[in-house]
Amino acid sequence: MTSVRDIPTQRVGVQAPPAARSVRLTKVFGEGDTRVVALDAVDVAFRAGQFTAIMGPSGSGKSTLMHCMAGLDAVTDGHAHIGDTELSSLNDRQLTMLRRDKIGFIFQAYNLLPTLTALENITLPMDIAGRRPDQAWLDTVIDTVGLRPRLNHRPSELSGGQQQRVACARAMANRPEIIFADEPTGNLDSKSGADVLAFLRRSVMEMGQTIVMVTHDPVAASYADRVLFLADGRIVDEMLSPTRERVLERMKAFDRQPEA
Ligand SMILES: Nc1ncnc2c1ncn2[C@@H]1O[C@H](COP(=O)(O)OP(=O)(O)OP(=O)(O)O)[C@@H](O)[C@H]1O
Ligand SMILES: [Mg+2]
Repeated sequence: MTSVRDIPTQRVGVQAPPAARSVRLTKVFGEGDTRVVALDAVDVAFRAGQFTAIMGPSGSGKSTLMHCMAGLDAVTDGHAHIGDTELSSLNDRQLTMLRRDKIGFIFQAYNLLPTLTALENITLPMDIAGRRPDQAWLDTVIDTVGLRPRLNHRPSELSGGQQQRVACARAMANRPEIIFADEPTGNLDSKSGADVLAFLRRSVMEMGQTIVMVTHDPVAASYADRVLFLADGRIVDEMLSPTRERVLERMKAFDRQPEA
């Protein structure tokens, strides 16, 4: 198994502490016959200002890793850190505040509130926190994801792709320290997907945003600085400066030699 090395990118100083990391992170679901080891002692670090893609077969633990790292799900063993904070050291209230202030999460299922409009969904985390949005930034986010004409519609009046874009905008709106995105472009047509990816890329390049993104799409992965490959709850490979072609080749190799 290839260990995950802490390789600095050109944009990130060697001394920069990771924005998030895990230590022997283990997640087990169920017991007895239904026991599933979704994450098997995963050690991983996500550098500040780096864009990481996570790939791997369905059921390999990608969503579970994101949920545990973002404090949305308790770990069975090991630790998850956001910056200097070890998540299991926090009580419920502290964890809620950390998630609200420091983490943006784009869910695989969009998790929008059905009774709120698109705009209200986007600004919800800030409204809960009693914080006024930075209007210029909010406008940039809304225009980038192309939602301006749909802002007053409710999720039931939006297409799947439009709902996904609301979820993306919500995660970006209060400029969190780290964004976890679980297949943020999975339901988008290629033009909307490219717009969202280009925006994520730009926020990394220009503002030092840290992003961890699950994807099945080699094109989406090629926007990242590195790709981690997961299989059976373990990180089995890492690729730096990925291109679509190299990612495709790597995926084919996985298909030929499935991990035990
Ligand atoms: N709440 C749960 N209860 C029981 N098992 C679960 C639960 N959530 C996930 N699992 C199991 O854990 C494993 C990893 O699931 P996970 O959702 O992390 O996979 P994934 O890599 O995100 O897959 P996909 O690409 O299909 O989204 C799977 O075997 C799944 O069935
Ligand atoms: Mg998943």
